[in-house]
Amino acid sequence: MENQVYAMPRIGDTAPEFKAVTTQGDINFPSDYKGKWTILFSHPADFTPVCTSEFMTFATMQDEFEKLNTQLVGLSVDGLYSHIAWLRTIKEKIEYKGMKDVEVKFPLIEDITMEVANKYGMLQPGESNTKAVRAVFFIDPQSVIRAIIYYPLALGRNFDEIKRVIIALQTADNFKVAMPADWRPGDDVIVPTAGSCGVAKDRMDGKEEGVTCHDWFFCTKKLDKDKVLSALG
Ligand code: BEZ
Repeated sequence: MENQVYAMPRIGDTAPEFKAVTTQGDINFPSDYKGKWTILFSHPADFTPVCTSEFMTFATMQDEFEKLNTQLVGLSVDGLYSHIAWLRTIKEKIEYKGMKDVEVKFPLIEDITMEVANKYGMLQPGESNTKAVRAVFFIDPQSVIRAIIYYPLALGRNFDEIKRVIIALQTADNFKVAMPADWRPGDDVIVPTAGSCGVAKDRMDGKEEGVTCHDWFFCTKKLDKDKVLSALG
């Protein structure tokens, strides 16, 4: 049989569909996750150190993501019994950076056929032919891919950044604004570019309350941290 060639999904695409077996039972993706934000992420292999540090970190943060109406779903091209044995080892034996007795309660997909990894562009042959890279797909409640981050095999992800991306995407949607570099709740946000010269001029002249313009195309406003935080989820 010829190898099937998959296009990599892009930001703005609907998340490709698949059915899979996981450590938490069968899933039908993305339909089982409609109405929630989802982080679908791949790791290269079970029983490897960087991946172990990542799983312990992500599992420890799971409650924080649930408060953001966000579900975590992991994947590697290992089989179910390998996943189960690895997660049991993590819980029973691994102590790392103050984390111990860590139970991974989110589903970990077995993908020995590499069907899902191929569909999501997680196999990047320049990095490895046999292992998925560290991909992170941020999928919104309508099943649309909103952001994608890729890391290579040798670099563990920054999970604070992954949480920041979810918070920023939700805030952009909630308040119809954009986020400047390194934005965090409480920082100023970027207001949409004025639709007419008149509005742009008023803004530049300081006539739009609360809006500060650095030039006609770059205006910011305060967005109260409590407002941001209470609208999340
Ligand atoms: C790791 O998770 O430690 C790892 C996995 C695959 C290749 C290199 C490192």
